[in-house]
Amino acid sequence: MNLYKLLLHKMQAMIEDKITRLYNMKRSAEGGGGNDKIEAQHSKGKLTARERIDLLLDQNTFLEIDKYVTHRNDDPGTKKYYGDGLITGFGTVNGRQVFIYAYDFTILGGSLGEMAAKKIVKIMDHAMKAGAPLIGILDSGGARIQEGVMSLDGYGDIFFRNTMASGVIPQITASIGPCAGGAVYSPAMTDFVLMVENVGQMFVTGPEVVKEVLSQEVSFEELGGARTHATKSGVAHFIAKNEYDCMDKIKKLLSYLPQNNAEEPLLIESNDDPNRIDGNLVNILPENPYQQYDMKEIIKSVVDSAEFLEVHELFAENIIVGFARMAGRAVGIVANQPLYLAGALDINSSNKAARFIRFCDAFNIPIITLVDTPGYLPGTDQEHNGIIRHGSKLLSAYCESTVPKITCIIGKAYGGAYIAMGSKNLRADINYAWPTAEIAVLGPEAAITIIHRRDLKQSPDALATKKKLAKEYRDKFANPYIAAEKGTIDLVIDPMETRPMIIRGLDALATKREARPWKKHENMNL
Ligand code: HXC
Repeated sequence: MNLYKLLLHKMQAMIEDKITRLYNMKRSAEGGGGNDKIEAQHSKGKLTARERIDLLLDQNTFLEIDKYVTHRNDDPGTKKYYGDGLITGFGTVNGRQVFIYAYDFTILGGSLGEMAAKKIVKIMDHAMKAGAPLIGILDSGGARIQEGVMSLDGYGDIFFRNTMASGVIPQITASIGPCAGGAVYSPAMTDFVLMVENVGQMFVTGPEVVKEVLSQEVSFEELGGARTHATKSGVAHFIAKNEYDCMDKIKKLLSYLPQNNAEEPLLIESNDDPNRIDGNLVNILPENPYQQYDMKEIIKSVVDSAEFLEVHELFAENIIVGFARMAGRAVGIVANQPLYLAGALDINSSNKAARFIRFCDAFNIPIITLVDTPGYLPGTDQEHNGIIRHGSKLLSAYCESTVPKITCIIGKAYGGAYIAMGSKNLRADINYAWPTAEIAVLGPEAAITIIHRRDLKQSPDALATKKKLAKEYRDKFANPYIAAEKGTIDLVIDPMETRPMIIRGLDALATKREARPWKKHENMNL
């Protein structure tokens, strides 16, 4: 072998060594916390962070960055792992770009240290610059105890970016495991939180702390399980049966959203005729206005192919919010639900609808409001817990939104609730009403006990008089025609033509431009 060949051989061997080193590191990084930890993860019925990313992203599109980052704390007891308990990168979902991070519970319980936080911050910055959705998959013990204030500062950096990204790119979080301490606040600052049943848990302080401080016994599930957050706290917008269902729901949700606030949502070709009428629609309403009916039947009849992605399905069920399409265009639906609390507005429903309206407005999604509400829920519970403060958020949300807004009053629209539910004066663009609409300051019974108090007192048969007066009131005031005369209802429509009328309105408003005065931000009644 001559000298040249020998040198070449040595160089090749050196390069091979270097490449072997890379592949060893890659194998080690992809092995997470080791086989034992992966088995433990699987035995809890959970997928690993990598398996989750693979499930969500289009095949072979994931490009991982910061794979070889390790922690740099000087605690000799904290083992170094490539990736530092977090996987970050980019890929596509149904061909559209997303940025993603997933906590790896197999490494130090997915706890967040300084370097892991830097990885999240980097991917958030990428998502912002690219103008693409950010998806976080959580399974974490919270701030890494060994890294003290560096870990806490890391959360601070993440919270700052969550705030900057809010209203600019969609942010979605899935809680698929414990999310403790600091790990819960970042999700809360994102647009949508999904939790997997019996797996996702979110709490600021865990059951042990609750027991120590308050001497209360509470299970993980009861304190912060998926059902608790989907029904009681409203932290979870979606509840998933399992991780597969969770990823499907994220994909579905993304399909309604634009990539960022400078874009419109995708227009999808629809097979559903935009001029389709539904002669059965009016039959959904009961003859007696005090009987219940399911508003979701009306929503499904009106939207494309009866497809409706409900948000916050189990929270504040007296109002319905969610995404659908009309003639292929994504819309946000807000509707009272007479099946719960007769569709009355209360604290939780006001918060729920206000947040949804603000999301739609930020991301150029028109808002369709369907109204049937007897008013605000009365009582000390509501008043003492701040219905005035919370209820006003719904007013602000409608007032500040500038996307196309179409409202259709179906049944009752009384008092403050009439104003709050996308009325003309809160700047809805088109206001329709069915002939069955009842628009008035108060419902008949409440109104006549005030304006006819004396007549009722003097009447020998108060009940019969009340009935007669209520009928007179309903005929005179509880209809859509007074509002139509004043122009606050643009048109009274035949119920069967609701779908074509909304679609024609959306077509007319597609190029709508409306500005609000410049301000640093509104001082919303939080
Ligand atoms: C470092 C942690 C950790 C943490 C878990 N681990 N949490 N390491 N910092 N915060 C480690 C464990 O030591 C263990 O390591 C491994 O992760 C798995 O944890 P287990 O307890 O064995 O798992 P499990 O029984 O499933 O319980 C998971 C858990 C529990 C519920 C998350 O670990 C837990 O309660 N952790 C602490 C949660 C917490 O209080 N965090 C708050 C931090 S304060 P080994 O080596 O044994 O595998 C905070 C403040 C921020 O976040 C506030 C910002 C506003």
